Amino acid sequence: MANKNLIDLDAMSKKQLDMLIKKAKKIMENPADYRHACDGKILATLFYEPSTRTQMSFQTAMLKLGGRTIGFDNPLNSSVSKGESLKDTITIVGGYADIIAMRHPVEGSAMAASMYAGVPFINCGDGGHLHPTQTLADLLTISREKGHFDNLTVGFCGDLKFGRTVHSLIEALARYNNVRFVLISPEELKLPSYVKNDVIKAINLEYIQTTDLEKVMPELDVLYMTRVQKERFFNEEDYLRLKDSYILTLDKLENAKPDLSILHPLPRVNEISVAVDKDPRACYFKQVLNGKYMRMALILKLLEVEV
Ligand code: CP
Repeated sequence: MANKNLIDLDAMSKKQLDMLIKKAKKIMENPADYRHACDGKILATLFYEPSTRTQMSFQTAMLKLGGRTIGFDNPLNSSVSKGESLKDTITIVGGYADIIAMRHPVEGSAMAASMYAGVPFINCGDGGHLHPTQTLADLLTISREKGHFDNLTVGFCGDLKFGRTVHSLIEALARYNNVRFVLISPEELKLPSYVKNDVIKAINLEYIQTTDLEKVMPELDVLYMTRVQKERFFNEEDYLRLKDSYILTLDKLENAKPDLSILHPLPRVNEISVAVDKDPRACYFKQVLNGKYMRMALILKLLEVEV
């Protein structure tokens, strides 16, 4: 984790990832042990794009650790609206806060901003590129549901082109043994070649690409559903044509494994029927809670707080 930032999980070793997961589980078991761990520390959450889970779970994580939070969730209410540059905003906030969590619509903005922060910096999503802290939530969920990462067949379904959580999770799972990927999407929303070639093909991982979710359903140990990312489309017509490409219903789960784990980073629009929420295989609300504990563990790690 170079410079105590989290921009891309690539910079974190498998051992560091495993330690972070272990720490999150420890916090989950004994949260009271951590309630003064960050007394006097300030987290700044700078969200240039909308968020419910990532922003609030970071804020909750810091409050649960005894720290406090500052920030904005609408840049129009900050001096960004007067034309202040990202560099200047981050330089200023780095003087107020002990750690910064930022979401921004431009790919690569997190790496650029981290250079001016002067304090630990966390990427909470940079455009359609990466969303590493969602991946931490996803990994803790898979670890708790399955008990391991090796030998899993993981299906990713929906918008694999713009779904930054998909890119980050593939990158993380690729470090484990014999993980097999099933990539389910319309032609127009296939996984970008920089993920397919640089991550999956580079280390000869097994994968298949298909448009047919029902056909591959019986093979899956984990099904990671995604929303078609309206905000990344240039053209409303294409979005409307593709938005309901996959809708997971109870009927479609008939041939799924009884211990399938269904994940979704949320927000959900239409891609998982509400009826699926009651199925014991639905893990997406547990996944949100897991995210809070992983973010607590991450804040402790980046601030080098030992408890
Ligand atoms: N999963 C996720 O990033 O949700 P938010 O956009 O609500 O933060």
